[in-house]
Amino acid sequence: MSSSQTSNSTNQSWGGRFSEPTDAFVARFTASVDFDRRLALHDIQGSRAHATMLARVGVLTEDERDAILGGLDEVAAEIEDGRFEWSVALEDVHMNIEARLTEKIGITGKKLHTGRSRNDQVATDIRLFLRDEIDTVAAELARLREGLIELADREADTIMPGFTHLQTAQPVTFGHHLLAWQEMLARDHERLLDCRKRVNVLPLGAAALAGTTYPIDRHVTAELLGFERPAENSLDAVSDRDFAIEFTSFASLLLMHLSRMSEELVLWTSAQFDFIDLPDRFCTGSSIMPQKKNPDVPELVRGKSGRVYGHLMSLLTLMKSQPLAYNKDNQEDKEPLFDTVATVQDCLKAFADMVPAIEAKADNMFEAARKGFSTATDLADYLVRRGVAFRDAHEIVGQSVAHGLREGKDLSEMSLEELQGFSSAIDEDVFEVLTLEGSVAARQHIGGTAPDQVRAAAQRAREALTALRSRD
Ligand code: ARG
Repeated sequence: MSSSQTSNSTNQSWGGRFSEPTDAFVARFTASVDFDRRLALHDIQGSRAHATMLARVGVLTEDERDAILGGLDEVAAEIEDGRFEWSVALEDVHMNIEARLTEKIGITGKKLHTGRSRNDQVATDIRLFLRDEIDTVAAELARLREGLIELADREADTIMPGFTHLQTAQPVTFGHHLLAWQEMLARDHERLLDCRKRVNVLPLGAAALAGTTYPIDRHVTAELLGFERPAENSLDAVSDRDFAIEFTSFASLLLMHLSRMSEELVLWTSAQFDFIDLPDRFCTGSSIMPQKKNPDVPELVRGKSGRVYGHLMSLLTLMKSQPLAYNKDNQEDKEPLFDTVATVQDCLKAFADMVPAIEAKADNMFEAARKGFSTATDLADYLVRRGVAFRDAHEIVGQSVAHGLREGKDLSEMSLEELQGFSSAIDEDVFEVLTLEGSVAARQHIGGTAPDQVRAAAQRAREALTALRSRD
């Protein structure tokens, strides 16, 4: 980056009314090119559409348009191969590109900015950028959901303890647990595609704030850029960044969900749970403890939620109380948004790669469910079916569990006589409900944990995912 030109003159794009050069520090402080150059190709995409529209309505001649489009192609090529020389003195990505275009094609380059301002230009750039990134995020999210659905289908019969308060509660199937994660992500996916609709609106034509006196056709520009429609109000179009806040709030919810999954993966890989194995390629070792295999990937994803929540707070605060219309505050929207996009994409990639490689340790899961009196509710329900009031049944089972704790026995390991000591309503057939298989199989309804229900739910999830994919 060349900073040699920093402020031995005023900026050529707006220096006309100034009588002294910009202070060197102020030039650096107000410049954004160090980070907004990331928008360069979207800036050129917007400029191409703007120039095409200007020629369509007769503000530019066809020759002028062709010169501008040709020049922009060359500038884009320079940027893509890293030959472009960015200058802090030119403040931001927009003026860097325009200056280079004018260097290349001469005075016609200066006509590109007719009927436009950097205010509607930057708002357009961010929307074009974010729309592309949303499509990448949606594809990665779909890949992760697909991985979860297939793993859930494979593990539909695998029994594990279900928890409340992280205490063993009732047996569930591992497939059912994975589909709970999948549901969280399905809602995130819907939120993302909903957010895309509000991103996909064209600010160009709003100019600085009030619109422009040229006979522009904003429908043409919108169509060229694939936007749904032109923004209704010029003041709103240049000023609000709620669409970036909305994306970051989608991202915060997603990372919250990923952090919950991460936490469970971390717990499950510990020696104390030992429910799953993560392949070595997703883990790292310790430099001092040779036995360690640490679940770094889920830990890091769990930690990354913090920075995304931080970006959400930054953007909300950035926007708060801003008077209409554009204010320089908005230049601060880019770094949090860029980092949110990068973080979401990395975390989704990590998870989408890792999930299909999760290996369930079915015997350990089963053993843990067996040890935790997880069929106690089933015994109570059994007693209710035999005419005992639920509150009394609860008390009877509580006493049986206390006995089991003293004797070191699960309910299913007690003899019929032992069980009948607590209630005469108990019969031989009680063992059908005390087994873990019987317990999960009995939850036979939509949303229940029975293996058949899990397989049916996986199939519905596949169909819903396909439907959503064809929407974006
Ligand atoms: N770099 C500015 C931004 O990111 C571009 C718009 C500047 N407009 C202005 N009138 N200073 O918001």
